[in-house]
Amino acid sequence: MLIHLIAAARPNFMKIAPLYHALKKEKWASPIIVHTGQHYDLNMSDAFFEDLSLPQPDLHLGVGSGTHAEQTGHVMIAYEKALLKTRPDLVIVVGDVNSTMACSLTASKLQYAPTSPPEPVRLDGEDLRHQATSKSSIVNRQSSIVRHRPLIAHIEAGLRSFDRTMPEEINRIVTDSLADILWTPSPDADENLIREGISRDKIHLVGNIMIDSLEMLRGKIEKQAVYDEFRLKAGDYGLVTLHRPSNVDDPRVLKALCAVLTRITERIPLVFPVHPRTRKNLEQAALMPSLTTTNGLFLLEPLSYVWFMNLVFNCRLAITDSGGIQEESTYLGIPCLTLRPNTERPVTVHQGTNQLCTPEDLETRVESILSGKMSQGTVPELWDGQTASRVVNSLKSLFRIDC
Ligand code: UD1
Repeated sequence: MLIHLIAAARPNFMKIAPLYHALKKEKWASPIIVHTGQHYDLNMSDAFFEDLSLPQPDLHLGVGSGTHAEQTGHVMIAYEKALLKTRPDLVIVVGDVNSTMACSLTASKLQYAPTSPPEPVRLDGEDLRHQATSKSSIVNRQSSIVRHRPLIAHIEAGLRSFDRTMPEEINRIVTDSLADILWTPSPDADENLIREGISRDKIHLVGNIMIDSLEMLRGKIEKQAVYDEFRLKAGDYGLVTLHRPSNVDDPRVLKALCAVLTRITERIPLVFPVHPRTRKNLEQAALMPSLTTTNGLFLLEPLSYVWFMNLVFNCRLAITDSGGIQEESTYLGIPCLTLRPNTERPVTVHQGTNQLCTPEDLETRVESILSGKMSQGTVPELWDGQTASRVVNSLKSLFRIDC
């Protein structure tokens, strides 16, 4: 079974790595990595491939940055060519970035002529069980033409912030409505999909695949002491990441956030690896000079996975708008303050260590964490480092693969 694993942007790489390594061990599977090129800097992409022991992508679409329409359109045009050339049986997309949606959309509309005698199978969720070697087929009853397209599987399906101003929410809804197989990280995701009318037999609760990467590299992560570089002590600094358009694209919002962070450094030093979008906006808003001269605020370039995770493992608290850090901090039992009005990962709030907050109440929340007023969270079920093997088992069962 030829399987495309779509990698596009930084948060995707730790989601495809465990699956790539697990599928590589299976005789029936030929996984290949397709990098759309949405993220392209050394420290936003290549460094992650190295840390996660991923080979160079087999296909690189080189799409780069652009407006949402440009980026989505460019991925679709390039990926359609790649699909026609390589004809995979299965396309696995992860997360919620523009490339996730673009590749799902392209694969769902593709039609290739059959290379072998067609084997018509209904493909509406009722029956995915056909031979692993055959391309998926849909019978067009009116014309009796057999159309072929790869199956689409989505890892991290079903997450919803219910906030359609977030580009990621649109990407999630579109991707999930097109996917044939939906692998979910937590029961709330299953409920969201069922509420949207998605057939239950397409939905498989497999857990959180990012935790597999964290556990795979735990030894290397724990060996580092990145905080030493800044003469900080483990457990005695906060970690900051900000990149959501809602926090960093409006100069007034960004300025207010910088003022709060500066005040927080009077209580605890902050380490802040700066995302390229944020850096550009900080520079344009002329906010860099005051930040770089703030005592106790350490601005860094984006870090590799192992170095960054070492900072997460050892921080006192995280201040973020990232999805992944909400999950990693919950898994590690580290307090996390998420600068967003909502989250598509509610399990991290109800069960984990995450709190949603605003720039206005950030300082108070930090203070309450530092004074020990913070309940311990618990780790959600199936966030255990074994998600990739559950995905492989799910594929074996869907395609009746015995080996
Ligand atoms: C994207 C995802 C977001 C994810 C984030 C993680 C979408 C809609 N957004 O946001 O869900 O949380 O990745 O980082 O898909 N840039 C570089 N070098 C790079 C990549 C980007 O300099 O390697 C700069 C470019 O100026 C670009 C800007 O960052 O215009 C934003 O990149 P883009 O991929 O459009 O969105 P992100 O903000 O990274």
